Amino acid sequence: MERYIINGGLPLKGEVEISGAKNAAVAMIPAALLVDGVCRIENMPHISDTDMLLTIISELGAKVRLVNHSTVEIDCTQVSFHDAPFDLMRKIRASYYLIGAMLGRFGVSKTTMPGGCNFGERPIDQHIKGMEALGAEVTVEHGFVYAVATDGHLHGSKVYLDKVSVGATMNIILASVLASGRTIIENAAKEPHIVDLANFLNAMGADVRGAGTDTIKVYGVEKLHGGTYAVIPDQIEAGTYMVAAAATGGEVLIKNIIPKHLECISDKLRETGTIVQMYEDSVLVRGNDNLRRISVKTMPYPGFPTDMQPQMATLLCLANGTSVITEGIYDNRFKYAHELRKMGANIRVDGRVCIIEGCQRLTGAQVMACDLRAGAAMVIAGLCAEGQTQVEDIHYIERGYEEFVSKLRNLGADIRIADYPEDMCFPERNVAAV
Ligand code: UD1
Repeated sequence: MERYIINGGLPLKGEVEISGAKNAAVAMIPAALLVDGVCRIENMPHISDTDMLLTIISELGAKVRLVNHSTVEIDCTQVSFHDAPFDLMRKIRASYYLIGAMLGRFGVSKTTMPGGCNFGERPIDQHIKGMEALGAEVTVEHGFVYAVATDGHLHGSKVYLDKVSVGATMNIILASVLASGRTIIENAAKEPHIVDLANFLNAMGADVRGAGTDTIKVYGVEKLHGGTYAVIPDQIEAGTYMVAAAATGGEVLIKNIIPKHLECISDKLRETGTIVQMYEDSVLVRGNDNLRRISVKTMPYPGFPTDMQPQMATLLCLANGTSVITEGIYDNRFKYAHELRKMGANIRVDGRVCIIEGCQRLTGAQVMACDLRAGAAMVIAGLCAEGQTQVEDIHYIERGYEEFVSKLRNLGADIRIADYPEDMCFPERNVAAV
């Protein structure tokens, strides 16, 4: 029942350090199942999705040691194939990586259908197509996915993805690193976390080539060995603080970033009139009171990320004129528009298109985090709004943002976590009491 209470209207000012990339880390934890030895992973984000995956692999017999806040050592030497906590698997999207990792390690896997944010239908047919091409028989029944390598282990093969899929690309890489022979993934996704997973696996002795292009070749090896690897900084966390700085008219230096990964976000922000100055591993964002309208279409990398779409929509609520956002990845990723309307936004949705008539100001309201990134967008809206905003269902936000509240407070935001009902502040009730 926890929620965020935000008193808006304060520009964000100061410096913020970006954590490790969620979508890379959530693949590396299952990837550790393939490693014969100790994987030391640095810059691991401390968020609920990584916590859940560490619990899941511990249940499979992995020894997990938190060395410090952002470093974890995983030793999967003693793991064995048996049931893992299905209730946790159902809660997160990235549990689908256990299909590839368990198949690679045991020649068999049993997982639930993955959970995660609901943006409409999110099938895993391309993952299954990949596993089948490598020689697995896959059955989906009663919410479970069973896969078994028909002759005990997987064989390299060629897989053409019908859709550019981040998850399928990474899952097929995981399944193929210990397969015999060469696997070729055509029409692969090119996101930074795919390159990061390939680099992680290569650091442990795998032979993955071409990650970051649309053709990835994986040459199977006998075994992987332990090693140390640092997760890249999170593109979406950085983008979220960039938009928050712009929307509040603040000035924030965002540190520990990879500028190349932020090009599409920076370019769109500059189009709005926001000042964006890139440095070697940081970016300075300075807001502008006179935001210009823009059009945005989300696309696979290097296009504008769908995971930045709700945050950008919030910014455009405050721009002059009519902005248009087209969602190019998911069927139903504008559910948060209803919440923004409660705050005075003039925002309409027609299928995969969202039309935003900019308004002068947003006003505080009680809103819901519909999903992880929509939740971040509500927080940005609350930071800009006049008066108080309460954001409910914050467990979604905690899946992907490390220390969100304390990082924002360090930037001068008036945000705190409150428990319902003990710590709730109902402005209406206070008025009635007077
Ligand atoms: C990953 C990210 C998520 C991000 C998304 C797109 C993780 C844990 N999650 O999700 O934050 O929003 O990439 O950048 O990394 N599709 C199919 N069949 C499949 C797989 C996907 O039709 O087998 C479709 C999806 O419904 C969607 C599109 O392909 O329309 C892209 O999905 P995909 O890239 O696979 O996203 P996820 O891996 O689920």
